[in-house]
Amino acid sequence: MQIAFAAPATTAEGTIVAGAGEGGTFGASAVALDKATAGALTRARAASRFTGKPGQLLEILAPAGVRASRILIAGLGAPGKFDDRAAESLGAGVLARLSGSGEKSVTFAIDLPRGSKLKPAELAAHIAMGAWLRGYTFNAYRTRNREEYEQTVANVTVGTPDVAGAKRAWARQEAVAGGVFLARDLINEPPNVLSPAEFARRVKATLGKLRVKVDVLGEAEMKKLGMGALLGVGQGSERESQLVVMHWNGARAKKDAPVAFVGKGVCFDSGGLSLKPGASMIGMKGDMGGAAAVTGTMMALAARKARVNAVGVIGLVENMPDGAAQRPDDVVTSMSGQTIEVLNTDAEGRLVLADALTYTQRTFKPSFVIDLATLTGAIMVALGLENAGLFANDDTLARRIGEAGKKVGEPVWRLPLGEAYDKMIRSKIADMKNISGSTHAGSIVAAQFLQRFVEDKTAWAHLDIAGVAWQDGEQKLHAPTWGVGWGVRTLDRLVADNYER
Ligand code: BES
Ligand code: MN
Ligand code: ZN
Repeated sequence: MQIAFAAPATTAEGTIVAGAGEGGTFGASAVALDKATAGALTRARAASRFTGKPGQLLEILAPAGVRASRILIAGLGAPGKFDDRAAESLGAGVLARLSGSGEKSVTFAIDLPRGSKLKPAELAAHIAMGAWLRGYTFNAYRTRNREEYEQTVANVTVGTPDVAGAKRAWARQEAVAGGVFLARDLINEPPNVLSPAEFARRVKATLGKLRVKVDVLGEAEMKKLGMGALLGVGQGSERESQLVVMHWNGARAKKDAPVAFVGKGVCFDSGGLSLKPGASMIGMKGDMGGAAAVTGTMMALAARKARVNAVGVIGLVENMPDGAAQRPDDVVTSMSGQTIEVLNTDAEGRLVLADALTYTQRTFKPSFVIDLATLTGAIMVALGLENAGLFANDDTLARRIGEAGKKVGEPVWRLPLGEAYDKMIRSKIADMKNISGSTHAGSIVAAQFLQRFVEDKTAWAHLDIAGVAWQDGEQKLHAPTWGVGWGVRTLDRLVADNYER
């Protein structure tokens, strides 16, 4: 799919999208199209329930008087509420409608609703972003009827009075979308293909091109560092665990403390000896969604040359139950020196993150650390699939993450931490145990476990993305495949709004 920007016109072939506000009032381009078609739009509106509400699309096929084979009238709603999110949903909604239609070319002729706070260039770039995000496909493993699944829309043109401004705004959006697509690709990839080593190889191949420095630590190096918690998870797998460290140095002051992102990268979570039931294992290829989000974020930052120093650290393991596997009752020693009684090998993500967090803080002294993980099923019990769970020891960081998420359509909801929850992981013989043994507050207990690996002065936040990293039910408008790529846009926005100088 190709994105282009051009002066507004209603004379294109293919599909033309025009806007109508509240009450179905046509914008200027819809008025022009109505004239050219001898009133086809007015008649179509009268013959339908179209009221101009956001999300509504009224389709007129093969209209006479214009070259276009199809006109879509898009509802824009109240002008004061027409923001960048609405513009994106419009772009995504049009692509969603056209997928499977065979249409090859779309031209947006949306006049900025009077009273909208958006600038014309932003409007155009956000429409493009919505279309682009929706246009993503993952068909690498289909060998039959590919045409049925492939994106037929090859050209998207967005009409705008500010072509140069729109191109500039789009370059930035496209860079971020590249990170989202990388995250989606990684999450969608099957686990027989995407081993920890293959994941690491792909990070090197894709980010290396963008001048991100990538270091990969294998098991021998991690053993030297004392990463007994992470290594314990991977020891029941034939495949070698990896720690991948990505560095992007974009700050003007080279010595600026970096921001740090840490990701859970369990390439497949069988549960280990605390084996999951078969049905619960399906989808556990996506248990590396946190690592995918971190990798995608690093790609986005590098691709748009963000003025920040950033490190991304991902712990890549496979949680499997072979003869060498970790047992429930084992005690492991983490890199921090703290010992952990492993009472459930299926609570493995926190073990991986523990060592990744210690490594990140001790090596980089970052200005903050945010970890992302598909950590607990319990987060879906608490929050469903709409919000990611947010935990933090720093109110400013928590607020900024919430604001960034809201702006890009990835909402988060903060949950509490506290001494009373911390007590729930006291062990009979070690410094802590990895589960509480109660069914209460599972996501908080997991976050509490992570906090034990947060060093004194580090500002830290944890995002439990188990409910949002992939989608089994209804599809999000902007994300047409199983892997969503959640988090890349939020973290990019967080950095852009607060940490670039
Ligand atoms: N990867 C899972 C969490 C998960 C479950 C993500 C379902 C997405 C969907 C995690 O490793 C896990 O197994 N957590 C356990 C923790 C429990 C043993 C304390 C869980 O949620 O059941
Ligand atoms: Mn697990
Ligand atoms: Zn897991």
